[in-house]
Amino acid sequence: MSYPYQIKSFEQYQKDYKRSIEDPAGFWSDIAEHFQWKKKWDNPLNWNFTEPKVEWFKGATLNITENCLDRHLEKMGDIPAIIWEPNDPEEHHRIITYKKLHEKVCQFANVLKNNGVKKGDRVCIYMGMIPELAIAVLACARIGAIHSVVFGGFSAQSIADRLYDAQAEYIITCDGAYRGAKDIPLKSVIDDALIGNRTVKRVIVCTRTRTPVSMIKGRDVWWEDEIKKIETLGLNDCAAEDMEAEDPLFILYTSGSTGKPKGVVHSCAGYMLYTNYTFVNVFQYQPGDIHFCTADIGWITGHSYIVYGPLSAGATTLMFEGVPTWPDAGRFWDIIDKYRVNILYTAPTAIRSLMGFGLGPVHGHDLSSLKILGTVGEPINEEAWHWYHEHIGKGKCPIVDTWWQTETGGILISNLAGVTPAKASWATLPLPGVEPVLVDEKGDEITTMEDGVYKGNLCIKQPWPSILRTTYGDHERCRTNYFATYPNLYFTGDGALKDEQGFYRITGRVDDVLNVSGHRIGTAEVENAINMHSGVVESAVVGYPHEIKGQGIYAFVIYTGSHQQNTHGTADLIRKDLLQTVTRIIGPIAKPDKIQFVSGLPKTRSGKIMRRILRKIAEGEVENLGDTTTLLDPAIVDEIKNGRL
Ligand code: WTA
Repeated sequence: MSYPYQIKSFEQYQKDYKRSIEDPAGFWSDIAEHFQWKKKWDNPLNWNFTEPKVEWFKGATLNITENCLDRHLEKMGDIPAIIWEPNDPEEHHRIITYKKLHEKVCQFANVLKNNGVKKGDRVCIYMGMIPELAIAVLACARIGAIHSVVFGGFSAQSIADRLYDAQAEYIITCDGAYRGAKDIPLKSVIDDALIGNRTVKRVIVCTRTRTPVSMIKGRDVWWEDEIKKIETLGLNDCAAEDMEAEDPLFILYTSGSTGKPKGVVHSCAGYMLYTNYTFVNVFQYQPGDIHFCTADIGWITGHSYIVYGPLSAGATTLMFEGVPTWPDAGRFWDIIDKYRVNILYTAPTAIRSLMGFGLGPVHGHDLSSLKILGTVGEPINEEAWHWYHEHIGKGKCPIVDTWWQTETGGILISNLAGVTPAKASWATLPLPGVEPVLVDEKGDEITTMEDGVYKGNLCIKQPWPSILRTTYGDHERCRTNYFATYPNLYFTGDGALKDEQGFYRITGRVDDVLNVSGHRIGTAEVENAINMHSGVVESAVVGYPHEIKGQGIYAFVIYTGSHQQNTHGTADLIRKDLLQTVTRIIGPIAKPDKIQFVSGLPKTRSGKIMRRILRKIAEGEVENLGDTTTLLDPAIVDEIKNGRL
């Protein structure tokens, strides 16, 4: 496959960028010509950010799986689409060619149909990182069902909330999942999530760990049995459903500043185009390259750069079931050596954690196949950037620092590997089609530099093809969250700097969203979970800098009676109870790193918690807390300061 739209020089980047901003409709229409459509569009772009309403390629019909699978079959049917590396290095890996993947997707699409799934139905997918997860996602897309993948680290309660919000009628899961030394009983979590549920009609269970599961008659079926039925019927092909360009492709829940996660909705055509375009350009993918993105498909990074971006480009995508540190901290380097990986795309938190093991685990692995390195999910500190560059890339691989969000579908700001300049810990320049702007609190563009940089809240002026279309079932929420803070701008929730060259550096969230090990977690969500514990009166959650996770979670909790001498046990025991509660309500990923019991919280006279003060205390900046005179009870600040963990 060739990519006529792959940018090859800085001059071409500048030229393409300029055109994309001046004539987005023309620019993206030309790129769209390189995809397979069932019917071409009438109108390439129609939008306003007030409703908001964004429509790309209206009137066109297509199916994303024909672009990811069918169109590659003739020339590339026998090349690997997915290389799968299991959790346990002793277990055999799997290589799935495009031909095989096509067949498996079609078969499973027929399984879905056989079980009553129709176009537009919501299908919740809760699986480990096995090829069947990618197959399940693509099979939904094949028949036009809307997939909603939920990361395996979320609890039954979180799944139940998502099932309800999406009114999902179908679930695809596994008996269990392997992650490092742990086995996660996925089906049993699903069973808990389904207590009291009235919408789910069918649960399809794929075998992985063969852990005991309770299969409920009439509701639960085994993946393998259903495939056998399809084989017996000879239904090995499945026509791809006609999808309107703007039909929803999937929902992916993500955290915001409120207590309830939002179902971000992406549409078929724009998402396909943009993930493909950014994959080909940011990573400078060349046919035959092995692309290894270490994310989980439960997050947007996995959707866009394990599944849809690479497959639509006819690439070979490597899927890894395990974790970077099991059985030892050389696991990534092992995989790179074994498969001669060319592109490695991972998170700063993984780099920092591997850095902590020293160079021992890196030695003895041949990493010479690597051409390009990437990072995503959080700001990368300079130390980690240099370690990655020097010890993994051996000083010869460009690093792409890719900034984007669940809502943006694909990478918005990043250097293009080896084509546009890199700068340690800077995401650098916007992709074609993306027009960023930094604004102040009032929404006015920042026009003066401070210490050599512009500094403000990061917004985007016009729509790129994979901008979110809505939040599922609640369009008003989409408007207020992203389009109402500043009129006519998409607000990212991030703060950023811009230098004299026009390079951007993302400084982090400016709202109440934490980024813990690259996972987005709302402080309000964690507070809600903690507050559900019977002994808790009130809590406030903030982030603090954490050496490996980027941010850690710090909870200040008011507990009934005295937590020191409570009938329920010691402070430590109560802390454990609270962690258990958070694990139950959200999942283990949201467990606070520190819990400090306090007798009060710093509040203004109107009752608002002054998080600024708590943030400073959590960060260890106890000297300079700013003005505390407006507090209802200034004495509480000293108590909290003294009790700091
Ligand atoms: C942060 C992940 C700095 C940012 C794709 C954003 C980053 C949030 C970077 C989205 C980066 C992502 N540099 N910060 N290269 N990439 N972020 O939705 O705060 O899980 O708003 O999407 O991660 O997280 P999400």
